[in-house]
Amino acid sequence: MSNDHQPCHFVFICQGKDCRQKGAKELLKTFREKVKARKMKKTAKVIKTKCTNNCEHAPVVILGDKWLFKTRKNEVEGLVEKYM
Ligand code: FES
Repeated sequence: MSNDHQPCHFVFICQGKDCRQKGAKELLKTFREKVKARKMKKTAKVIKTKCTNNCEHAPVVILGDKWLFKTRKNEVEGLVEKYM
């Protein structure tokens, strides 16, 4: 069986209360828009998570094996470019 269509990039975006208050909902939307615009829907998945217990660093994004703290919407394009 082929794995050609298995996603190879995973982005987890905390949607806990503190992260949402600091823009996590918009971050989720922006990551999904970038993935779609780059036609990466088969190779990348953007996934919501519950609180990751890093609320002091909200909003929290986990991109591959990297934890990204206080991520801003205007950083998403660069992150997608660099890591995905
Ligand atoms: S709400 Fe996102 S880390 Fe707690």
